[in-house]
Amino acid sequence: MEARLVCFDQACRATYDITEVLYSCPRCGGLLEVDYQDWDFDPAVMKRLWRERRMNETPLDQSGVWRYRELIPFLNDYRHVVTLREGNTPLLESARAAAYAGLKTISFKHQGFNPTGSFKDNGMTCGVAQALRLGMRRVACVSTGNTSASMTAYASAAGLQPIIFVPHGNIAFGKLAQALEYGALTLQVEANFDEILALVRKLAERLGIYLLNSINPFRVEGQKTIAVELMDQRDWRVPDWVVLPGGNLGNTAALGKGFREMRALGLIDRLPRLAVIQAEGAAPFYEFAQRRGRGEFCPVRNPETLATAIRIGAPVSWPKAWYEVTQSNGVVEKVSEEEIADAKAQIGRAGIGCEPASAATLAGIRKLVARGVIDREAEVVAILTGNLLKDPDYIYRYHTGQLVTPSGRRVAGQFANRPIVVPNDPDRIAEVLACGV
Ligand code: F0G
Repeated sequence: MEARLVCFDQACRATYDITEVLYSCPRCGGLLEVDYQDWDFDPAVMKRLWRERRMNETPLDQSGVWRYRELIPFLNDYRHVVTLREGNTPLLESARAAAYAGLKTISFKHQGFNPTGSFKDNGMTCGVAQALRLGMRRVACVSTGNTSASMTAYASAAGLQPIIFVPHGNIAFGKLAQALEYGALTLQVEANFDEILALVRKLAERLGIYLLNSINPFRVEGQKTIAVELMDQRDWRVPDWVVLPGGNLGNTAALGKGFREMRALGLIDRLPRLAVIQAEGAAPFYEFAQRRGRGEFCPVRNPETLATAIRIGAPVSWPKAWYEVTQSNGVVEKVSEEEIADAKAQIGRAGIGCEPASAATLAGIRKLVARGVIDREAEVVAILTGNLLKDPDYIYRYHTGQLVTPSGRRVAGQFANRPIVVPNDPDRIAEVLACGV
């Protein structure tokens, strides 16, 4: 077994040693991926082994990422691994959400159950392991919030110094609070995500910091295991659709790679179709897909959405994501602020809950079912990327009629659940409750 870095650009395919510190191909500037050679195992034996590991108490086997380590064999020494027992996230069904989407059934792979409350933890345990292996001391990321929370936790747990760059005023408080508490050196930059990422990509080498954004191919390896755990939970029955929100598009790249590799290794017999959902005000990938990938990829200059996690106009991983969408015969859809907000409230009412960006999935599915793209009877899995508590401010505004879109529209909130202020008076309270409010 040999792991190496390979340029994703199909015309280049230059290869590099797995221990080189690279974020893009020195020859052509393309994205890099981790590639494995002579990869061969018995699928039935592996499936059994992965199940058995659930019963072990060792940290590596308790991790929902490293349990599947045969599928991410880029390390030569597992002593570099720092695990917070990431992964292990549930697959939740909801009749209520299915009815809202117009489907017979739906299930949610809820990545918000991760240690820092988002899907980033799956990738971060791998990124930080690679940083330790390379002997790095300082790690950094640019983030709309979740990556910074996750990176800070893993870096601190590993004894590394975390440095984060976030757009000032445009990250949810839950996420900023986490990063501060986990000990990040926090730089709130007066620019948007795309601008800051371009800046930090240039600065990384000069400052001697290791970048842990999703251009880091080791992050992608960890996020792949979301697809693996999902298939394990479904006894390796492939769903018709896997639906996920699209921001910087690292997760689309990761899940697509995961499904393709599982098929190549004989773990599954076909690929699910991927549906990527973007917010209307930050939808360059949707526009590109509308043109069937013809012409240039045009970034959105001033991306806007209340789903701040996906407020991204120049997604770095678009070439990988486009490849995965086309390979899986997938689709890209966009949804409005109102559609996201109402879908989010429905996921909440189902007792599940998620952050705004995650709810783009249900909103998108509803649209795709209405358009006949997704069949009513189809088996659909939506990836909920972040926890409900990440963005409490959004929730309070929605339920109290104070949620205003970036263009100044007040969101009507079809499912608003207003709190009622009552005096300290038993009669008055009994009166209010008797009204069946
Ligand atoms: N959902 C949530 C909750 C996110 O935090 C992100 C990205 C996405 C979806 C989109 O995933 O970028 O892989 O397409 N958050 C990044 C961050 C950008 O900095 O936390 P993607």
